Amino acid sequence: MEKLKFPDNFLLGAAAAASQYEGAYKQDGKSLSIADYKTYNPKVDRKKINMNEIECYEDVFLQLKDTEENKIYPYRWGVDFYNKYEGDIKLFKKIGMNCFRTSIAWSRIIPEEGVINYEAIKHYKKIFKKFKEQKIELVLTLSHYDYPMWLVEKYNGFANKDAIEKFLEYSEIVLREFDEFTNYWICFNEINMTTHSAYTGAGVVLKRDNPKNKEIKYQALHNQFVAQALVVKLAHKINKDNKMGGMIAAVNSYPSTCDPNDVIINQEFSQINNDLFFEIESRGAYPKYILNFFEQENIKLNISEEEKEILKEGSVDYLSFSYYMSSVMGQEVLDKGGSTLFFGGKNPYLKESDWGWQIDPIGLRIFMNRLYNCYQKPLMIVENGIGVDEKWDDKENILKDDYRIEYIKSHLKNIQLAMQDGVECIGYTAWTALDLVSMSTKEMSKRYGFIYVDIDDFGKGTGDRKIKESGKWFKKVSDTKGEILWD
Ligand code: BG6
Repeated sequence: MEKLKFPDNFLLGAAAAASQYEGAYKQDGKSLSIADYKTYNPKVDRKKINMNEIECYEDVFLQLKDTEENKIYPYRWGVDFYNKYEGDIKLFKKIGMNCFRTSIAWSRIIPEEGVINYEAIKHYKKIFKKFKEQKIELVLTLSHYDYPMWLVEKYNGFANKDAIEKFLEYSEIVLREFDEFTNYWICFNEINMTTHSAYTGAGVVLKRDNPKNKEIKYQALHNQFVAQALVVKLAHKINKDNKMGGMIAAVNSYPSTCDPNDVIINQEFSQINNDLFFEIESRGAYPKYILNFFEQENIKLNISEEEKEILKEGSVDYLSFSYYMSSVMGQEVLDKGGSTLFFGGKNPYLKESDWGWQIDPIGLRIFMNRLYNCYQKPLMIVENGIGVDEKWDDKENILKDDYRIEYIKSHLKNIQLAMQDGVECIGYTAWTALDLVSMSTKEMSKRYGFIYVDIDDFGKGTGDRKIKESGKWFKKVSDTKGEILWD
């Protein structure tokens, strides 16, 4: 078999999100974000968590600040990258990363409305300088699930159009201050999250059982799209070499049978959960299928003529997405009420992780082909990995994570095959470099890293870092531009 290789300029590395690994939640004048109020609950069956449980309704939100007693706030300590960055970046280099995707915490840069925090800017510059020294390219995400509390409390996040201006103010500071460190940007992490959890995706607090909730979610999403389009224009104005990516959580799904009825159901599911987002950020207009959906659901959005123009003018430069799993969709799945995190059903041909995420490397190739052929924009896979509850073997001083090697290997090979098919793909960042706090379950035990971090679900441990076998293997992948994947 021919050994495929990534091109020399291919970005190959790992990704993380500020709130999940930085820690230092009050340091250098940071204010609190919605992530800082998320708690870990050991009593919950974390393997059965679905999107609805990630929502934060008003009744819960109003009690968030009542008491901190007996609550565990894992995002507040993360894995303390904010202070340990020098050693961590050296380890990133050691495992062969030539690229690192991370986000910036809005609540560090603008801790209060109208206040710019130069201490945090200075600190981020120190961190980014280290990446530059190590020749690790940065991909910077402006917002990754950690809206400042002030934005949520005063504006109800992106439910309010004023959030657009607030986001622009923040983005302008970041784009100007960190201009020398990268040309690769991502606006919102997984913009499609807003239609699943408005709180996580758009900082919107919904009232429980409000019949208007769907309308509020889609309005918030629209406001985010307008903000994103304006940020694209701003990024190009600040530096003509800037490339701004749109990003979604890929929800690749297959029809559950070849019954044409199931194929149509799956098509509609894909349109609403995937295509819509790429469509708007690439072509800058709402497709007819979503307008039909709005009509059926009696959703009335406030979209001005000026905003329609903005969407057209601010299409993104590349399409990025996270890809962890695929699912199936059809009549039977609908009747059963769905079963995976994103609602789809089980595929008997696929194995799944301990958290029920169905592993589908070929699905990635299928998805990339479909996406590229539709929009003809470069692709970047900015998250992909497997979460496993694993322990460092102190006796042998090793963590043999063969399953992670197998997972990443099979996905990277399918990326190479997709590129051979003709897809333009500019990079891949695995989730993740260091073990960090899980987004959906707020635990440390769901570990994704190439590098083990000795911290448990309660924040206890030495915090020491050790390279897992997958990290050593990744170095070889990087050194050979992926050729060893085919040995
Ligand atoms: C992505 C998010 O959806 O999935 C990350 O962008 C998240 O923030 C990752 O950590 C893995 O999900 P989880 O819930 O296993 O941490």
